[in-house]
Amino acid sequence: MKTRGSFFLYTFLLFFSASAWAKNEFEQWLDRQERISWDRLKANIHPEGTVPGVVIASPSRQDPDYFFHWVRDAALVMDVIAGGGDFALMDRFIRFSRGNQLAPALTGLGEPKFHVDGSPFDGPWGRPQNDGPALRALTLTRYARTLLRSGQKEYVLQHLYRPEIPAHTVIKADLEFVAHHWRATCFDLWEEVKGHHFYTRLAQYQALLEGSDLALLLNDTGAADFYRRQAFALATELRKHFDSSRGLILNTLNRDEGLHYKDSNLDTAVVLAVLHARSQFVPVDDPFLKNTVEALEREFHRIYAVNHKGFPATAIGRYPEDRYYGGNPWFLTTAALAEYYYLRGHLAQGDAYMARIKIHLPENGAMDEQIDRDSGYMLSARDLTWSYASFITAVEARKRAVGSRHPAEASAVEIF
Ligand code: NOJ
Ligand code: NOJ
Repeated sequence: MKTRGSFFLYTFLLFFSASAWAKNEFEQWLDRQERISWDRLKANIHPEGTVPGVVIASPSRQDPDYFFHWVRDAALVMDVIAGGGDFALMDRFIRFSRGNQLAPALTGLGEPKFHVDGSPFDGPWGRPQNDGPALRALTLTRYARTLLRSGQKEYVLQHLYRPEIPAHTVIKADLEFVAHHWRATCFDLWEEVKGHHFYTRLAQYQALLEGSDLALLLNDTGAADFYRRQAFALATELRKHFDSSRGLILNTLNRDEGLHYKDSNLDTAVVLAVLHARSQFVPVDDPFLKNTVEALEREFHRIYAVNHKGFPATAIGRYPEDRYYGGNPWFLTTAALAEYYYLRGHLAQGDAYMARIKIHLPENGAMDEQIDRDSGYMLSARDLTWSYASFITAVEARKRAVGSRHPAEASAVEIF
């Protein structure tokens, strides 16, 4: 009896491990594209001609010129690097960022982009963009927590968060800026509209909350209390973005400058906000978020000819009224929908979005910024660093979604 029992047990285990191991063609592609994304992402960190710590948005130097360090793009990219545990790269980024903060910039810490020698870009631009310091604070606060867990308190106190005013460390300076400027309008993440934005506000809210926790850990109790009170006050403002008559989350309120033709107020920025802030304030299964995602899917399906060719899922843009390069789908917004579905445990829908990305990629796996809305060919800035980061975070979300499933379910993934 005993032998027979274990025979069945082993057959059972063999069956499930074989089905889990035998990766289908789609999963092999995911693995390969993930490796390519890491390589190409890293190639955009401190490339030749830049100072250490620089993350260029793209190697493209004209049409468009993206050979700059954007605070937002860099924060999102370095969050991926932090996840990979590269201490040396993080250290250079931390020192470079502190240099950015100290450089005399037109709008102080709200300055959106820097030259690759670390000096602020002071040509005409949509400024300030106050999501930058919030995103950088989030990335570095989370990294600081990792360092504290591995006993590196000295490094944290010296370079990341030291309780003193005026601030001499990068996180502390960012948090002070966020805590004192969140009431002001600023340009959005797309650098086009000045107002109060859900994306910016959710990043600020979460930066203040997690910053408050870090402050407490480092015995900066007064600051911890102050940051938390600011976060609660900001929460009241965030609630105003939930439009109960339409059941949607609206990205911009109180527009006071910039583009005036974004009539739908539908923006993938809302989804990016949830992915980047990872805040309990808006759980991934929030019904308003779901409605917003579905409205974006419908709208982008309707307006892009490339979505009428029978490809899987929907190529997703920034917002329907977009005119930048004619207004097109972007990789990072399409990957965002994949990640959104993975986070909700909807593997097949997430996979459909990843399969969609695959269709628009060249053989070598290079990812530009956009996808032509008619032809489906890539467009605008080549090798956009943020495109790679968005692919990697989507794949990571997929791994977690697969890992938390019953093995039989995991092997039932739809194949494209
Ligand atoms: C450059 C910005 O980065 C982009 O988001 C914007 O659409 C164009 N300028 C047009 O304003
Ligand atoms: C234009 C995008 O709209 C903006 O979000 C980004 O920061 C810059 N390009 C650089 O990638």
